[in-house]
Amino acid sequence: MVTFDTIIRGGTVATATDTFACDVGISGGRIAALGENLGDAAEIVDATGRLVLPGGIDSHVHLAQPSAPGIVMADDFASGTRAAAFGGNTMVLPFAMQQKGQSLREVVTQYHAKADGQCYVDVSFHLIIADATDRVLGQELPALVADGYTSFKVFMTYEGLALSDLEMLNVMSVARDTGALVMVHAENYDAIRFLTDRLERAGNTAPKYHATSRPIPVEREATHRAISLSEIVDVPIMIVHVSNREAMEEIRRAQARGLKIYGETCPQYLVLTEKDLDGLNMEGAKYVCSPPPRDTASQAACWEGLQYGVFSLFSSDHCPFRYNDPQGKLAPKGRTSFRWVPNGIPGVETRLPILFSEGVGKGRITLNDFVALTSTNHAKTYGLYPKKGTIEVGADADIAIWDPQRQVTISQALMHGGCDYTPYEGIAVTGWPVSTMVRGKFVVRDGELVGKVGAGQYVAREKSPLATPVGREMGV
Ligand code: URP
Ligand code: ZN
Ligand code: ZN
Repeated sequence: MVTFDTIIRGGTVATATDTFACDVGISGGRIAALGENLGDAAEIVDATGRLVLPGGIDSHVHLAQPSAPGIVMADDFASGTRAAAFGGNTMVLPFAMQQKGQSLREVVTQYHAKADGQCYVDVSFHLIIADATDRVLGQELPALVADGYTSFKVFMTYEGLALSDLEMLNVMSVARDTGALVMVHAENYDAIRFLTDRLERAGNTAPKYHATSRPIPVEREATHRAISLSEIVDVPIMIVHVSNREAMEEIRRAQARGLKIYGETCPQYLVLTEKDLDGLNMEGAKYVCSPPPRDTASQAACWEGLQYGVFSLFSSDHCPFRYNDPQGKLAPKGRTSFRWVPNGIPGVETRLPILFSEGVGKGRITLNDFVALTSTNHAKTYGLYPKKGTIEVGADADIAIWDPQRQVTISQALMHGGCDYTPYEGIAVTGWPVSTMVRGKFVVRDGELVGKVGAGQYVAREKSPLATPVGREMGV
């Protein structure tokens, strides 16, 4: 008698806490049983010698997001989620970005139209608040949080996106009232403008000066300020894409004081440095992202943040622009300064192999830490757990099967997204996701795309359990 739709047999299962040899029985898209001798199934998948892990959840990606006029992001929802699946991910959380004057509800409708029927893996949206009007704060945000858009990002820099401290306080206050989680891009806008103007006046316009225009104090100061604002409001926040020791130490100190300040870092801060921006001609533009990659001491600090739990999330901040493309990195005609290079680099397909190889393979983190940092903590942080982010009975069968021994040299030829380069070209890794299954159905199987576009679904989220204010826990 057939008892399951699928059994994944003979693999080693790892969760955020445990590693065990075990078969996985799947029925109706969910994990139905864990154990040995599970019986029969319509399909048996042999996972001998493989790791069976919760599918990666990349909670920081940008897809089909408008940039400056004439510039187009390299990934739409189809290509971005396809790349995600090949990279061992079963869910991504892109942003629905408001532009000044737009209604947030209208923004959400637009992003659903971009995503619906286009995804290979599951998706859910964070909101980006660019225009914190009374209507947005008083009506739209509370209604959207109630509808499952339970996290929003605010920017302390970027033309058209940067919020003032007062606006940040107002957004944080709505988050406190509604139980949403605020993600903060912490860089000091005025300092960047001052340094950018000064560099340009001196004729220093090559891509490498992007990094010079946003040195570590720019990020440290904003991180400190964001933490102070959140303390004033008494609301937890997530500081995203942390790049260096000083910002990491700000978060660590806040955590030690009992504040609910969470941190995220990304592959670019572990394996790239500022020197990568100093390519021949304009090649450095391929590495322009914010905050910029720093130096090897900063890389070590980011590892420390991952090892000691200062950072609970490891995300890609996938934000791809093509290089050899009139709508890509070098699009702004006649504008040769780094100021005009769109910020962001691709990474959704390479995030997991890089952390697996550099982290687990080199003994910096355990396999269970890897699962926590790339999947389980994302689900817990953003209101998806235990439906997503773990291998346990009742959870969605979102699973990545890994060959822990496979040696791969990362190269653009292996990538499946819409970008025309990878900033991680030439990095040798050991360990590769070979198959990815979303809700019990393979999207990628033994390195081949077998899933259909549109199989990925939108997932409305619960409120984050991490978003409860400290004061409220004490009855205030
Ligand atoms: O340079 C970056 N990180 N671009 C993506 C947008 C953001 O700030 O996350
Ligand atoms: Zn950002
Ligand atoms: Zn981002």
